Amino acid sequence: MEILPNNIESAHRVGMAAIRHAFPISRQFFSGCLKFVKIAFFLSFTIYYFIMSQIIVSPSQTQFSSQENETILSAAIRHGINLPHSCQSGVCGSCVATLVSGSVVQSGEYDDYVLNQDEIAAGKILLCCSQADGDVTVDMPSYAGAKAIAIRTLPARVANVDIRGDVAVLTVALPKSPPFQFYAGQYMEILLKDGSRSYSIANAPSQKATLEFHVRLREGGLFSPQLFSGSLKSGAIMRLRGPLGSFYLNDESADKPLILLATGTGFAPIKSILMQLADTQPERVVHVYHGTRVAAGLYDETALRQLLAALPNAKYTPVLSRPDADWSGATGYITEYVLRDYADLSGHEVYACGSPDMIHSSRQMLVAQTRLPENAFFSDVFTAHV
Ligand code: FES
Repeated sequence: MEILPNNIESAHRVGMAAIRHAFPISRQFFSGCLKFVKIAFFLSFTIYYFIMSQIIVSPSQTQFSSQENETILSAAIRHGINLPHSCQSGVCGSCVATLVSGSVVQSGEYDDYVLNQDEIAAGKILLCCSQADGDVTVDMPSYAGAKAIAIRTLPARVANVDIRGDVAVLTVALPKSPPFQFYAGQYMEILLKDGSRSYSIANAPSQKATLEFHVRLREGGLFSPQLFSGSLKSGAIMRLRGPLGSFYLNDESADKPLILLATGTGFAPIKSILMQLADTQPERVVHVYHGTRVAAGLYDETALRQLLAALPNAKYTPVLSRPDADWSGATGYITEYVLRDYADLSGHEVYACGSPDMIHSSRQMLVAQTRLPENAFFSDVFTAHV
């Protein structure tokens, strides 16, 4: 039916009357509903605001909010703020800060060697094991504030999966713009339907188009079986978040000789650091120790030897803890070999990535027996997730 302009008003009235007849709900009822929705929205916003805590990180004066049942570190990461951290589980000590005001509730366990009683008495806390109880200010001079690289969530396309024994070398292609930035040694989260898994980046920051990850097979795991079964094929799209972590080459002491320690796939960030050295400081003195059980665990040795060829002052010591009969190289644990090779590390820096046991024992032994300064030992602890 065509409604002519001079009949529009009456048509409208007739239409509304028909609607009211079909749906007998009063105007008062509609406006009551609207009021109810407004009040509910206001109340939920107010409650949400008051159960959140405001966190200030000095001296950068970085501010963010944290929710109930959320650690301060998780809240920072959720806001895209890359506070120094590594394991997120109270093992590495990278997220240590000093409580300046407010109070926190300890929400995770950690060992005395990560934070001892004297440090706790001095107000030190681990941000990955602390939830804010109200508004909180913490001091964390190691956080660079706005100068830190921002955390991004970005898509990536699977470019290649290379299976080497029980390690998959996964290469993903990144969007071209804006170029992805990270520091050699940092890691990414791979965001999955039922959670996420973290893997260190194994390529140089100068390579902007792709990222490489070394993924060990974990039976029944959330992510690795997809690579080994072939179900995650070239061209598949993934979501990544990062860069994360504060384990990266320290620029301020650019000429100190380096000891790089890796066990297993802890080699990934060490490879990234070596590639950065090849790009920017090829003359730097560096000694790499890679510990695994058997020779097959040296899964990326071809690439490593190519890298070493570009570093004239680099040495490499592979160490097997359960060597095959035909192995003629070093056997045992990497820390023993560092102690055998170096009596005095007081002028060195050590970067270690691998199991908590290796990190803990090498830190203790090198500091106690080689005069390595505590603050010259940098570590990234791998905690096993299926
Ligand atoms: S102890 Fe907090 S990130 Fe490792």
